[in-house]
Amino acid sequence: MSGMVVHGAQWGDEGKGKIVDLLTEQANMIVRFHGGNNAGHTLVVGGEKTVLHLIPSGILHPGKRCVIGNGVVLDPEVFLAEVDKLGATGLDVSPGRLAVSYRTHVITTYHKLLDQARESALRSGKIGTTGRGIGPAYEDKAARVGIRAGDFLDEKLLAVKLKRALAEKNALLAGLYGMEPLDASKLLEEFLPLARRVAPYVTDCPALIQKAYESGQRVLFEGAQGTHLDIDHGTYPFVTSSCCLSGNAGPGSGSSPRYLDTVVSVVKAYTTRVGSGPFPTELGCVIGEHLQSVGAEFGATTGRKRRCGWLDMVLLRESVRLNGTTELAITKLDVLSGLTEIKICVAYKHKGGQVLYPPQEENALEGVQPVYETMPGWPGDIGSCRAWGDLPAEARDYLLRLEELSGAPIGIVSVGPDRAQTLRKS
Ligand code: GDP
Ligand code: IMO
Ligand code: MG
Repeated sequence: MSGMVVHGAQWGDEGKGKIVDLLTEQANMIVRFHGGNNAGHTLVVGGEKTVLHLIPSGILHPGKRCVIGNGVVLDPEVFLAEVDKLGATGLDVSPGRLAVSYRTHVITTYHKLLDQARESALRSGKIGTTGRGIGPAYEDKAARVGIRAGDFLDEKLLAVKLKRALAEKNALLAGLYGMEPLDASKLLEEFLPLARRVAPYVTDCPALIQKAYESGQRVLFEGAQGTHLDIDHGTYPFVTSSCCLSGNAGPGSGSSPRYLDTVVSVVKAYTTRVGSGPFPTELGCVIGEHLQSVGAEFGATTGRKRRCGWLDMVLLRESVRLNGTTELAITKLDVLSGLTEIKICVAYKHKGGQVLYPPQEENALEGVQPVYETMPGWPGDIGSCRAWGDLPAEARDYLLRLEELSGAPIGIVSVGPDRAQTLRKS
C-alpha cells in the first residue's frame, strides 16, 4: 500500500498546503482530488510565500509529479496563470511534470456568472461562496452536461458542447437574473486559446497513478476545503459542492482505495471559518480578534476576514470518524501563545442533554451551546521550537488533551508558517 491522504478536518484553511509541502519529501507524486480554485493553499519556504489554488502543493519540490484529478473542477484561466507564475520562478511546470485528467470538469464564464448572480440575488441565507463558479460546475457534472478537459482535444466537440450548455445557461442568466446573455461564438473565441494551452497537460491520470504504485512509488493525495464543508457531511447548506473527505481520494483521482494506508488530518489549534454558516465556538470578543490578528486570518483566495473561535472537539471527533484519521497534524499552535487560558469545546448542550458528536438535523448547530474545558496557556514565543521537548509543558498538555479527546494520535505539530517551523511528536 502506498497512498497517503492529507485533508482538512475543520472548515478549511487548516494549513493543508504547508503540511502537503512538508510531506512531499516522502512522496513521488502529489494529486489534487476535489475542489477547484476556491482553495488557497499557502506554502512558506525560507520566508518566501507561495499561494496555490489549483496546482498541487508538491510543486515546489523538483522532480515530484503533480496531478490534477478528475474530482477537481478546473478553471483554465486560473490554471494557466498559476503555471505561468510558477514557471517564471524557474520551476518545471511542463506537461511532463504536471498532468490534468481527461475527466476533470472545466469551469467556464457562465459558471462564475451564475455563482455570483445567485449569491447576490439571495437576500438572506447567502452561503458566502468564493464566487469562482465551483457549485455551478459541479451541478453540470451531476446533470451530465459538463465540459471536461478531455474535450479540449476535440475542438469541434468542444464547440458543440459549449453551445448546447449555453442555451440553458442564457435562459437562467437573462431570464432569471436579468443579465446580458452570452454569445456562443464569442465565448468559444475566448475559450479556444485557453483550451489549446491546457490540452498538452491532459493525461490518463488513473493509469499514471497505478504505474506509480506498481513501481513502488508513494502517492500523496491533497485535500482541499475541510470535512465540515463537505457536501454531505458538512454544515449543509453552508458547504462547498464536493466531497471533502479522505475517502474521495479514490474516486476523485482514479486510484483504488486499497492503496490508501495513511490519513493525515490537518487541524488548526483553534477554529476558523470563512463565509456563512453555524459556528458554535465562534468568539466575538477580544480573544477572537487576537486569534484573527495574530493568526493573520484572512482568506488566501478572497482576502475575507476569517471568523475565529476555540477548538471544537465535537467537530474534530466527527472528522476523525468520517476520515479514518491515522494521525493528526496540528497547525498554528504558536497563535495561542500569550493567552492566559485556552478553552476546548468538549461537547454540545443539545435538547436538554449533552452530545459528543454533531446532531444530524439540518442547521442543528445553530441551536447548540458549547461545553468548555479550560486549560492554562503559556507565555512566550514557541516559533523556534523544533522538538516535542522544546514546547512549554502547558502546550504539550494542551496537545495531549487533544489526542485524548479526539481519539487520534498527533504526528506533526506546526509552530509557524515556514516549512522549517515544524516538529514531530514522537
Ligand atoms: P490551507 O487552505 O489549509 O492550505 O490553509 P491556508 O494556506 O489557506 O491558511 C493557513 C495559513 O496559516 C497560511 O497563511 C499559512 O502560511 C499559515 N500557517 C500554516 N501553519 C502555520 C503555523 O503553524 N503557524 C502560523 N502562525 N501560521 C501557519
Ligand atoms: P481551502 O482548500 C475555506 C467556503 C466558502 C463558502 C463555502 C462555499 O483553502 O481550505 P464555494 O466557493 O466552494 O462554493 O463556497 O465554502 N470555502 C472555503 N473556506 N477554505 C477553503 O479552501 C474553501 N473553499 C470554499 O468560503 O463558505
Ligand atoms: Mg486556504
